[in-house]
Amino acid sequence: MHLINFKELSGQQLTAIIDKAIEVKHNPEKYKDALAGKSLAMIFQKTSTRTRVSFEVAMTQLGGHALYIDWRTTNFTLADVYDETQYLSRNVDCIMARLLKNADLQVMAKASRVPVINGCDEKYHPSQAIADLMTIKEKRGKLKGVKLVYIGAHNNVCNSLIEGCTKTGVKITTVTPLFNEPSRDEKLLEDAKKTGLWETTLDVKKAVKDADFVYTDTWVDMEFFLDPKYAAEKEKRIKIMMPYQINMELLKGTDAYVMHDMPVHRGYEISPDVIESPKSIIYEQSENRLYSAKAILLKLLEKY
Ligand code: CP
Repeated sequence: MHLINFKELSGQQLTAIIDKAIEVKHNPEKYKDALAGKSLAMIFQKTSTRTRVSFEVAMTQLGGHALYIDWRTTNFTLADVYDETQYLSRNVDCIMARLLKNADLQVMAKASRVPVINGCDEKYHPSQAIADLMTIKEKRGKLKGVKLVYIGAHNNVCNSLIEGCTKTGVKITTVTPLFNEPSRDEKLLEDAKKTGLWETTLDVKKAVKDADFVYTDTWVDMEFFLDPKYAAEKEKRIKIMMPYQINMELLKGTDAYVMHDMPVHRGYEISPDVIESPKSIIYEQSENRLYSAKAILLKLLEKY
């Protein structure tokens, strides 16, 4: 079993992973040797703080071992993804990969003899969404019927939130004046629509009015953020998105919690005072990456 997105998981299976993450958080001792002798290869084509740290610490705390591999220092740069993965999967028990292209991840999953976890590509970020749903369940005690509003560019995080929410009974409204075309997955959106739990609007004020959670993410994908060639597009995006910033004015009249998957760009998608306010659960949400990583690893290595 791989975790590329949530297409192969039922709502029940996804909920079980979320519940396991909460249980693992409260019972670390119980799982301290669960992955003894197991190795996780973590291969990165893009930068990361949380995904790298949470999976590496998760393996250590579960009694296993993680290898950090910078793609640029490997022979993945010279050879077929298929061939290199054939080798890699014969020396480790699990692979977590953050790649630029979902197509390469699909090749990796096909070639691998061991589970492959998507550490975020241009289409999906499933390990983030599991941490997000875990955080929602901790705060509200349930998932079914809770309302989340995502405000930002329609991107990989947005896709996985839509998929994760609609499979677990969370009502999700997206307010996305921009669509990152590489993240487009019509089938995912069609399936979400059929559940009746996803809607999209540009009326941000109305959307947040009865929200339990308001969520945002960067307007510019990480690989472009510091790229001078992308500067004009970045400026254009800031202009379009600024009226959709999460700030105190937008949150007036709602007691919604505020979420962000991080890294945060203060003063852009979210104002600094919101980050520091009691409404923000951003740091708890990021802490939960660790417990959700543990639950994912335990699931894929068949420990529950
Ligand atoms: N949210 C998230 O995936 O963080 P990193 O990019 O730092 O891993």
